[in-house]
Amino acid sequence: MDFLPIFFDVRGKPCLLVGGGEVAARKAALLNRAGARITVVAPEAREDVIALTVSTEGEYHQREFQPSDLDNVYLVIAATSDSAVNARISELADARKLPVNVVDQPSLCQFIVPAIVERAPITIAISTGGNSPVLTRELKERIEMAVPRGYGDFARLLGSWRDEVKSAIADDQQRTRFWESLIKGEVASLVFQGKTEQAQTTFREQLQAVSHEADKHRQDKTGEVWLVGAGPGDPELLTLKALRLMYAADIVLYDRLVSDEIMTMVRPDAEKVFVGKEAKHHPVPQEQINQKLVHYARQGLKVLRLKGGDPFIFGRGGEEIEELAEAGIPFQVVPGITSASGCSAYAGIPLTHRDYSQSVRFVTGHLKDDRPDLDWNMLAKEQQTLVIYMGLMALPVISSKLIDHGMRADMPVAVVEQGTRANQRVVTATLQDIDKAVSAAALKAPALIIVGAVVKLRKTLAWFGDQEA
Ligand SMILES: C[S@@+](CC[C@H](N)C(=O)[O-])C[C@H]1O[C@@H](n2cnc3c(N)ncnc32)[C@H](O)[C@@H]1O
Repeated sequence: MDFLPIFFDVRGKPCLLVGGGEVAARKAALLNRAGARITVVAPEAREDVIALTVSTEGEYHQREFQPSDLDNVYLVIAATSDSAVNARISELADARKLPVNVVDQPSLCQFIVPAIVERAPITIAISTGGNSPVLTRELKERIEMAVPRGYGDFARLLGSWRDEVKSAIADDQQRTRFWESLIKGEVASLVFQGKTEQAQTTFREQLQAVSHEADKHRQDKTGEVWLVGAGPGDPELLTLKALRLMYAADIVLYDRLVSDEIMTMVRPDAEKVFVGKEAKHHPVPQEQINQKLVHYARQGLKVLRLKGGDPFIFGRGGEEIEELAEAGIPFQVVPGITSASGCSAYAGIPLTHRDYSQSVRFVTGHLKDDRPDLDWNMLAKEQQTLVIYMGLMALPVISSKLIDHGMRADMPVAVVEQGTRANQRVVTATLQDIDKAVSAAALKAPALIIVGAVVKLRKTLAWFGDQEA
């Protein structure tokens, strides 16, 4: 960051503007909107500039700049057309540690004046750090379009209710949730339609309902658990519901497979508890995770259990909610895009195809007593696609078992590492060669194996910018 973004209170404070032309007039108007007392120094000045010095109880000095003009002012803006004068003002102000802005000369500025989108009392400031005024303008236009005009009225309405809401809902987290739901809900939409009175009535009704709930909550301190699938990694594959709950949770228990990018989208002040594999690769035992969920929910918290992919597909989500059901804790389940769907789509491999595959099987390649425990006769059949989760370590066993049970040795196979993420890699080979190819590329978990004639379609259907490893 090149500049510290701050909003400076200049109400009633003398601020110096050197220059009286068109640029100075724009700065004078801005200082006036912020409530400053404007002192202008310039041999000549536009009438509107002079008028602003009068209306803000400032002064107009009709002469050249002199160093004593810097006495007793809070900030300085140099807007003359003489670059030598501008440079001198900058140097003198800097020596006195006064914040100074020289219009259109970032190297002489101690502060810059951002472009603004105003919905008073809301001000949105935009700066490209002096790099591109055109880009600043483009961003301003976008924000102008995206933020409804009514936001100013809405901010004022919210401000007028602050004290009442605070006394009606004592719990900080509940209060924050109330504000969040309000900002996205009916009250906002009524304000934006100009129906302010109706908005006030609806606000009161909603506050009464929530404060009644808050009383109930104080008596019965049971929270809720949301078991949510975060998809295979690309944050844009999150569902809208997942995103909403990620922003509403008090605490999040998350796995190794939930990508860092997705974790940055969780509500910033929610507590984050990692329950995946730790540095020494010891997973937090499932039983402990189940107990933690119950423990936090019993404290009255909204607990988000965030899992990679879909929680009901090789995610042990069923076990977690069984424990919650036994403990009488309310829960919701939100499906996610499983890695089979995500990896196949991003690798350009349709899981079914009228010509090559009429069914698809999701199986685990996780080793039990050092061997995958699977029905090989069924898996080795033609005209189907096999998707093998957690199968990387057992790949040599899996390929030789499938060949032993009748699958052709030249059946195409793909292994997708870090599917849907920017660093996705894909290895394709025949069943008999896939293990060697995967070792040569040094693929690591998480990786998903896809076996079937559909894999050959990747040659023409690959679209994601990954590379054949
Ligand atoms: C414990 S399972 C969890 C599966 C998850 N519930 C789902 O629906 O995708 C973990 C396995 O999922 C697969 N996996 C999950 N995310 C993946 C990704 N982004 N790329 C490749 N494989 C992935 C790997 O096979 C990994 O070993």
